Amino acid sequence: MNINKLAQKTYYKFSFVEGNQHIANEYALKCILRIIEAFNVKDVLEIGIGIGCIADTVLEYSQNIKYTATEANEFCLNAIKENVSQIKRVELYSNLAEIPEDIFFDLIIIDGTDESLGKLKRLCKNETIIFLEGGRPIQVQILRSFFLKAFYTQMISYNKNPNYGPFSSEDWCGGGQLIFPNPNFKMKFFYWKERIATYIKRKYRKKK
Ligand SMILES: C[S@@+](CC[C@H](N)C(=O)[O-])C[C@H]1O[C@@H](n2cnc3c(N)ncnc32)[C@H](O)[C@@H]1O
Repeated sequence: MNINKLAQKTYYKFSFVEGNQHIANEYALKCILRIIEAFNVKDVLEIGIGIGCIADTVLEYSQNIKYTATEANEFCLNAIKENVSQIKRVELYSNLAEIPEDIFFDLIIIDGTDESLGKLKRLCKNETIIFLEGGRPIQVQILRSFFLKAFYTQMISYNKNPNYGPFSSEDWCGGGQLIFPNPNFKMKFFYWKERIATYIKRKYRKKK
């Protein structure tokens, strides 16, 4: 299935699930799949799996992805058992500090808070990519202070939220924040394309 269609399908599914007020926005799901496809991501860490909207999307996208996540909330830990069809593929920890020191990730998705964010650097490979769902300015600032050579851009949408789901269809569909801590040539190319797209989308949004 096309990645945009898959993101729409999962967002629609989670639009009718109990406790969905904090799920990832639909455009963030599309961005995550686009990153995974472009960089052939195999090892994903999600900080704050919540009720499982991102995890369900990614696990359905590929059988070859190893998925690790953190979550401490009791309601969410129960909810993911129901919501994530392939929950058996998820390695769960309560927080970042619990993750063994010898595991490294291609993509780290941040969609929750973690007091041990400082531990994130040790989970990175040289070419790890970091994506933060939504705005998250404080976490972006902290991460950029860890990775001084990082390339950072927002990823925003041309569209408003769908008329189903927890977010108002009057508001722009959020997207997220993309950080390449140690960008290689391909990452720099991806970054510039996103930066230009974000600039154009901002102008378009202002006119609307
Ligand atoms: C933005 S949410 C994560 C959403 C998740 N990535 C998803 O797409 O389903 C961040 C945190 O909020 C908490 N949370 C999310 N949904 C909740 C709910 N319905 N009730 C209580 N806490 C919730 C969880 O601890 C979660 O890690």
